[in-house]
Amino acid sequence: MDKVLIKDKDECWCGCGKEYASCHKEFDQKLIEARNLGYLIPPRRFIKNSLQIEGIRKAGILNNGLLDYIQENIKPRMTTEEIDRLTVKYLKEHDCESADYMYEGYPKHLCTSVNDVVCHGIPSDYVILDEGDIINVDATIVHKGYYADASRMFMIGKVKPNAEKLVRVTKECLDMAVEAIVPWKTTLNDLAKVIEVHAKKNGFSVVHEYCGHGVGLKMHEDPYVLHYQVKEKTYLIVPGMVFTIEPMINEGSRYLYLDYKDGWTARTKDGKLSAQWEYTLVVNEDGAEILSK
Ligand code: MF3
Ligand code: CO
Ligand code: CO
Repeated sequence: MDKVLIKDKDECWCGCGKEYASCHKEFDQKLIEARNLGYLIPPRRFIKNSLQIEGIRKAGILNNGLLDYIQENIKPRMTTEEIDRLTVKYLKEHDCESADYMYEGYPKHLCTSVNDVVCHGIPSDYVILDEGDIINVDATIVHKGYYADASRMFMIGKVKPNAEKLVRVTKECLDMAVEAIVPWKTTLNDLAKVIEVHAKKNGFSVVHEYCGHGVGLKMHEDPYVLHYQVKEKTYLIVPGMVFTIEPMINEGSRYLYLDYKDGWTARTKDGKLSAQWEYTLVVNEDGAEILSK
């Protein structure tokens, strides 16, 4: 974005087909101003056009429907494999595909992470949900080439107060981060700070090894959306960015280990509980709109 070579009547760089002057011209001017103020400004490849956002919005509605369907059917004594089977049925009926299936060899259609599993738990006939368990169900679907990614926690029957608190505080971390988004003002680090401060205030820790990400035309796009603060400058949040926020919060220490047998399942090192919630959101002119939750 050094010299603006594009002319008013040229087609806008966002690919919408409109003239530059009536599309991203003003946006580019604001970006230059922000850069002059010292912000790290996002590259154009982070910015979705309205057609793409419409497609991701539809995928988000379908992904929400999948999570609703699981929510209606999840119950004690059910196996996580059954959740995978429900997913396959839903996807077939709704003209969608799982983005997880065969992603880097991942063998199932979504992730089911129970209790001390931080993320990427693989559905299995051997994992049976019991009263008192907490589980994260994380689904990423593709519909007409557009991706939406979201996860929810479910509490199975009556759970202990510490588990209930972890699930609640993790959701608060995510909701507070979304609320904090003011386009042209908030940076990714600001979101990390909101999450880190709220988790630590409640005696919990933030996982560092996994993070949120751009999403929409692929499951994982730039930028990384970290849930802990870093010293470096991070991107300014501007309209048209579509990304996930998905904090993983631990009851005990933040450290984890990877299951060496399946190569996917991440568990807390101390065996204590972990929780996660995830939304896909799009930044518009006055804040963030949640596309999948
Ligand atoms: N849904 C996950 C995320 O939030 C990614 C799934 S990894 C896979 O980024 F291996 F299961 F595909
Ligand atoms: Co996800
Ligand atoms: Co994600």
